[in-house]
Amino acid sequence: MSNNLMKEYIDFIENYLDQKCIQYDSEPQKTLFESMRYSLLAGGKRLRPIFVFDFCRMCGGDWKKAAPFAAAVEMIHTYSLIHDDLPCMDNDDYRRGMPTNHKVYGEAMAVLAGDALLTTAFMQLALADFAPDVRIKAVEILSACAGELGMVGGQVLDMQSEDRACTEQEVIDIQSRKTGALIRAACMLGVLAGGGSTKQLGNAADFASHLGLAFQIRDDMLDVIGNAEELGKAVGVDTNKNTFVRIYGIKVCNKLVSEHTERAVDCLHCFTDNTFMKELSYSLTNRTV
Ligand code: IPE
Ligand code: IPE
Ligand code: MG
Ligand code: MG
Ligand code: MG
Repeated sequence: MSNNLMKEYIDFIENYLDQKCIQYDSEPQKTLFESMRYSLLAGGKRLRPIFVFDFCRMCGGDWKKAAPFAAAVEMIHTYSLIHDDLPCMDNDDYRRGMPTNHKVYGEAMAVLAGDALLTTAFMQLALADFAPDVRIKAVEILSACAGELGMVGGQVLDMQSEDRACTEQEVIDIQSRKTGALIRAACMLGVLAGGGSTKQLGNAADFASHLGLAFQIRDDMLDVIGNAEELGKAVGVDTNKNTFVRIYGIKVCNKLVSEHTERAVDCLHCFTDNTFMKELSYSLTNRTV
């Protein structure tokens, strides 16, 4: 994988999030801004922005122009993590190597920081430098993937499935919503920003569905075989959850990660210059972070 391109993508989104987002000098609600920025700028792999940028590039677009779309997905992802860590949800103390948002700012502020990140994400889409029809389509894609049919819906099913046995299909359905949907939004927004074809939009969605599944299976595996310091979040906390590991065991999970990654990579045939995305996909199969 081109590490240079990877670094360029990460540097660009880090700089954009830090310098161009949530910058207000004369507003009094400073603690809210601080709390939003605390989680947004806490690092993380920035995978979803990378997907936006690289799908845009693979479609022949100017990837830097897609920064507002990339920022919007990362803001929604960050809000989902802030809320996911709350005592009423997963009750986690560490995230991205730092105390969770509510540990620093309190629960009420963490809820509100999440709310504001979700809201301002759509301002990014509205103000991006694209034709109105492109921006409206972006709103449609991101809201569908983030909301009750997407990530939020998946979180609800995940929560309701605790402490009871789920079928394999149920677990796949939950994960494809709670994690797959935002990855799907990222890849599709990249194609949209790059002016890709309808076929490319469909293939990006299929790629993301398989990659998202592989990604969440690996996330579940890391709860068992991972290292908290390296991951920046606690391990061994999914004991009452319907994880892939609980259903299949580590060995089968390894095989499933490889299989879904292969199926994801197969969807990339309609993109020229897809080497970076292929290599990134394979590198995620044995990630430790
Ligand atoms: C963690 O996502 C939550 C899941 C959806 C599995 P990431 O592993 O992408 O978290 P960051 O952004 O790198 O912190
Ligand atoms: C979280 O899944 C997915 C979302 C935040 C939507 P997890 O609960 O497995 O994520 P981690 O393990 O806390 O990062
Ligand atoms: Mg959770
Ligand atoms: Mg969690
Ligand atoms: Mg997890």
